Amino acid sequence: KFQWSLRPDKLSDYIGQKDLLTRLGISIKAAKKRGEPIDHVLLYGPPGLGKTTLAHIISNEMSSNIICTSGPAIERSGDLMGILTNLQYADVLFIDEIHRLPRPVEEFLYSAMEDFKIDFVVDKGPFAKTIKVNIKHFTLVGATTRAGLLSSPLRDRFGILHHVDFYSTEELGEIVKRSSSILNVPVDEKGALEIARRSRGTPRIANRLLRRVRDYAEVIGDGSINEEIAIKSLGLEGIDPEGLDGMDKSYLKTIIENYQGGPVGIEAIAATLNEEVDTLQDMVEPFLLKTGYISRSPSGRRVTHKAYQHLGDSGILIQSSGQ
Ligand code: ADE
Repeated sequence: KFQWSLRPDKLSDYIGQKDLLTRLGISIKAAKKRGEPIDHVLLYGPPGLGKTTLAHIISNEMSSNIICTSGPAIERSGDLMGILTNLQYADVLFIDEIHRLPRPVEEFLYSAMEDFKIDFVVDKGPFAKTIKVNIKHFTLVGATTRAGLLSSPLRDRFGILHHVDFYSTEELGEIVKRSSSILNVPVDEKGALEIARRSRGTPRIANRLLRRVRDYAEVIGDGSINEEIAIKSLGLEGIDPEGLDGMDKSYLKTIIENYQGGPVGIEAIAATLNEEVDTLQDMVEPFLLKTGYISRSPSGRRVTHKAYQHLGDSGILIQSSGQ
């Protein structure tokens, strides 16, 4: 195995997402037992939590090919038609950011998903007619940051829906240890947990931080990772001790400094930050809600005591005004 591939390729090597794994494992075993392709799968949740990895695992466990593309990459129905007609029986077609498929392309997918047929228009003007073309029975795996971003006709055509959630510090610690052994760098328990704590609940970030700490350990230390090396290296990189990133901090600071801590509507926060509402809802808020830095109610977003305390401690707020 190449050492830059830290992704697990089997269900049994996957760490975390326990309920999802149990349910997905049953779907896979049942399909294999019947000798059929697995039903279409929709994976939704924040970036970096393993949606692409899971798509690869599904194709591996089903011993089929995987074809990877993304919503914005498919501009015209013709592009999708080419992909669909080249699929073999039981292949996995992975479409990342599936909510960004252009509407006509999305509509073209409906009959492909449901009946494994596509409508193909030949001739022009008064002679135009549609021909139904059969395609092979394939599995569509779609990934999106929020299931609510999909139109309901598309969402309804997935038989299997899974939400991927943030990982606990313990799970990320296990992932860091697994990755360290692939990268051949010794790490102790406390070192792994220090990296895990600062990874924003996200394996992709944990693996990135691990590589930075490994660099530091090899140049400044003796090549192995412990708590002290992790703290020094990640401090030097400007990584927040609780894993908050620059965007998280700007978001919290905006609510505190411009809106007296809230409650404030998401549109107002987005306007002040010059960001898209969707970006905040899909990439920033889920982690802050999960870890209790903000709360959400019908009247808007409010920062919590925990946020004031953390920003105050890290010197980001000049005066902590309390709640
Ligand atoms: N690498 C990235 N994500 C992982 C996971 N969930 N389990 C094991 N290794 C991983």
